[in-house]
Amino acid sequence: MRDIVIIGGGPGGYAAALYAHNYGLDVALVEKDTVGGTCLLRGCIPAKAWLHTAEVFHTVAHAETFGVIAEPPTVDWGAALARKRFVVDKLVGGLAGLLKQRKVDVIDGFGRLVDGGVEVTHEDGSTSMVEAKHTIIATGSVPRSIPGYDIDGHRIVSSDHALDWESMPGRVAIIGAGAIGAEFASLLGDMGSEVHLFEMLDQVVPGMEPQAARVLERALKGKGVTVRTGVGVSPPQIGDSGVVVPFGEDSVEVDVVLVAVGRAPATDGIGLEGTPVEVDRGFISVDPATMLTARPGTYAVGDVVAGAPQLAHAGFAEGIAAVTHIATGSTQPVNYSAIPLVVYTNPEVGAVGLTEQQAKDAGYEIEVTKHGMGGVGRAIIQDDTAGTVKLVAEKDGPLLGATVAGPGAGEMIHELMYAVGWEALPAEAAAFVHAHPTVSEAIGETLLAAAGTPLH
Ligand code: NAI
Repeated sequence: MRDIVIIGGGPGGYAAALYAHNYGLDVALVEKDTVGGTCLLRGCIPAKAWLHTAEVFHTVAHAETFGVIAEPPTVDWGAALARKRFVVDKLVGGLAGLLKQRKVDVIDGFGRLVDGGVEVTHEDGSTSMVEAKHTIIATGSVPRSIPGYDIDGHRIVSSDHALDWESMPGRVAIIGAGAIGAEFASLLGDMGSEVHLFEMLDQVVPGMEPQAARVLERALKGKGVTVRTGVGVSPPQIGDSGVVVPFGEDSVEVDVVLVAVGRAPATDGIGLEGTPVEVDRGFISVDPATMLTARPGTYAVGDVVAGAPQLAHAGFAEGIAAVTHIATGSTQPVNYSAIPLVVYTNPEVGAVGLTEQQAKDAGYEIEVTKHGMGGVGRAIIQDDTAGTVKLVAEKDGPLLGATVAGPGAGEMIHELMYAVGWEALPAEAAAFVHAHPTVSEAIGETLLAAAGTPLH
């Protein structure tokens, strides 16, 4: 009998499997595809590989600003695709090697919760049983769609298909301006596709601070993306020449529609029916201190968890929390209040903790401080001054949340992760000196202002 059987080899599942090695636990990992999950195979990693290609393209296209004369760039989509595949293969190969080295038994097949462990259905239809004392469900998520937009992989696609496009699409409609929609709009806009971005709510990246959303929206428009917020779409008409996407009294014809309206938990058919595991619209309820479900010995981590962010790094932390509880009986809860969220558009948006609205809704009396990047030397050097820092602090109290939009925001947000996570007072964080000239100085300036002692 194993100590742990894990269903699903994405970030939540593989982090749990790797971490269990610290405690000498005997682990089996059941995976129906290749290890790596959405993040490595169909999400974060390939998307960021495309985004990096777009960034290089953008840099070359604007080289003249810096006194570098280059031919106007063109995209070799095949080479970009090959580069993306190289990156994915390298990371997947590395992960498979690491799992082997840590003596994790990776079992190919579809896992289903049964009494005493997990039943695995293999590709040839045969089944086998993995007996274990504990089970971790880490089956991830799949793209959702909306009525009328049935994903066919050709005219109507999800990010799964878009990340494997063999050529650059000419005219694209993107439904949903969350992280996925915004990132695709940014990269396709940078590389010259005709992009129509539709968002039902009143700003791009809903849930993010409106100031940051405005920076991003302006940048997207600057790339030629047509951004329509507060606009829902009606079912499309699919013809030989393309797809007509109706909205209101109007419509637009495109070659392909990318549906990016969220991801649904992949919990169908994994044997939850008839068990005490509490499931709400496919999401699994857990005790956040331990990741334990209502079924003794059964844990859930990653995108299937109810009320938690669908982020690879949240999955890592949840895998660690589950294994810690299994191995030691003690708890190492995930600090959800300080998990950074990064949208890897150009420019990036990074956020941690509460937004102004969330802090108000939670009943805090707050102070908000904002700072632009227009006067930041390094940003001017980079010709990249469209950015903003926003801090939310409790009145006369600690930082509650922070958002950065602008160059390198995805890296810079981590200093604010510590400040928010450690509940620093603005004055305490402001006492540290930022190197000059850096874009991060924008954060230093905002902290000084939040402490009541602005400099510039
Ligand atoms: P999402 O939930 O973040 O955004 C979906 C958007 O679609 C929302 O803004 C919603 O208002 C909009 N929408 C829904 N129905 C619509 C309709 N009929 N017409 C127009 N707009 C509509 O989901 P997304 O972007 O698909 O991402 C899925 C998950 O993956 C999210 O949890 C996201 O955070 C995560 N993810 C994170 C990334 C990152 O951290 N960089 C990158 C990609 C995904």
